[in-house]
Amino acid sequence: MDSERQYNHSAHAGNAGDVWKHFVLGEVADYIFSKKPRLIYAESHVGYPEYELNKPGEWEGGIGRCWPNLPDLKNFCYFDILSAMNMKGLMRYPGSTSFLIKAAKKRGASLQAELWDTDPQVASAWSGVEHISFHLGDGFKGVRSLLGRSPSGLILIDPPHIDSKNAKLANALLSASKKAGWTVLLWQMAGQEKIIDSNKFEAYSLEFDQAGLDGGRWSGSSVYLACSDQELNSLLEKRIHEFLKIMC
Ligand SMILES: C[S@@+](CC[C@H](N)C(=O)[O-])C[C@H]1O[C@@H](n2cnc3c(N)ncnc32)[C@H](O)[C@@H]1O
Repeated sequence: MDSERQYNHSAHAGNAGDVWKHFVLGEVADYIFSKKPRLIYAESHVGYPEYELNKPGEWEGGIGRCWPNLPDLKNFCYFDILSAMNMKGLMRYPGSTSFLIKAAKKRGASLQAELWDTDPQVASAWSGVEHISFHLGDGFKGVRSLLGRSPSGLILIDPPHIDSKNAKLANALLSASKKAGWTVLLWQMAGQEKIIDSNKFEAYSLEFDQAGLDGGRWSGSSVYLACSDQELNSLLEKRIHEFLKIMC
């Protein structure tokens, strides 16, 4: 069995890498929702709708480290949603698509999601969820096939690891999606090969200790953004600066 098939995100949910990925995703989506009331959202590697946070867990070095600053962080989409889900203490963590469904609702926007994952248990977990089309299969191929037949929207590419084969697929998908008018995010841990073409796509990187987070063996992570909207890049920089100011 190949290693991607065995990957289960449960042990990693809410860790420092997830905080960075979902923080950036939330800011990008919230910006788009403020301009567009309807959004097509596609994820190539979606994982489960929701995760339980148990101790001990990687989340303690991630979302757990943010929790004391929650009153100041609540004006960010990501933290506002986490807070509303965990009124009695931090116990639940949304997968990326559940998070975006809540972010759309908060803005009164409507979201249609096209999701891919190769794990049949993940497929069962999404069964019956409204406004979701789940596809059991490879997400690189799946999202690529969507480009020509759907209005453009937002894409998250979040493979469990990026080897040289995935790197080629990821670069190609980022380029093709941007060309087709989509806004695309790709997440990657720092220390993996520099495989994404950073001349073509904006990289937003965090050294975890810069924000008081603990990523275990990982020192940081990057989110790449491919889009043609300079206003979004500027806004993101400003919001990241504000986030770091609170966390430092
Ligand atoms: C990092 S997790 C996804 C986490 C999710 N995006 C989030 O932020 O909440 C990666 C997922 O990719 C799935 N996966 C592995 N190989 C895949 C492939 N070739 N195509 C689609 N999904 C795949 C795994 O089953 C796993 O659920």
